[in-house]
Amino acid sequence: MTAIQIRPVEKADYPSTRQLVDDAFRPDDVVTFLDALRADVCLLGEWLAEDSTGPVGYIAFSRVWVDEPDGLRTSAAILTPLAVRPDRQRRGIGLQLMDHSLRELEARGERLFFVLGHTDYYPRAGFLSAAAQKVENPWQGNPAFMARAPFVPEGRLVLPASIANAH
Ligand SMILES: CC(C)(COP(=O)(O)OP(=O)(O)OC[C@H]1O[C@@H](n2cnc3c(N)ncnc32)[C@H](O)[C@@H]1OP(=O)(O)O)[C@@H](O)C(=O)NCCC(=O)NCCS
Repeated sequence: MTAIQIRPVEKADYPSTRQLVDDAFRPDDVVTFLDALRADVCLLGEWLAEDSTGPVGYIAFSRVWVDEPDGLRTSAAILTPLAVRPDRQRRGIGLQLMDHSLRELEARGERLFFVLGHTDYYPRAGFLSAAAQKVENPWQGNPAFMARAPFVPEGRLVLPASIANAH
């Protein structure tokens, strides 16, 4: 496993993490989405992994909610985006970033997490398609929408504008 350090992103890291996300997702344009997330003030946390060469991984979680039929609103967090620099992929950095950030968010009291992503990857961090089925969401029926939680309430997913507009 590669030796890396993981720490919260600071404003000074915005350009380098933006570049990293662009390198990981290109030709898809995900930096426009990242800029919108950062402007939307919906971010719960951003972390970066770095080694002696600089930033090698990036992860962000944003605040979302589940509106339940009885009017109750439950807070949750959605993971997007997760990016590992192309020359450092498949060395466990993505999993380490998820493990670190999920622990930090759990320590702050977060219990309910969502992701839209690879169904053969995110289950390694505890996300499951079946767990998300009770939540009405914009990707209804798509197994890529997954949840990680001790309990997932029935209800409708409410997204911040930056995420709703991007999907
Ligand atoms: C997907 C990504 C975040 C994984 O990070 P990583 O550090 O490379 O992954 P890890 O080393 O923690 O885990 C490796 C596993 O990831 C999975 N994986 C990696 N890239 C994948 C891809 N493009 N599609 C599906 N699964 C992938 C594989 O299961 C792999 O296991 P294997 O090596 O045994 O086959 C990284 O490859 C990346 O940044 N990709 C481009 C951007 C992206 O697709 N982000 C996720 C959007 S949902």
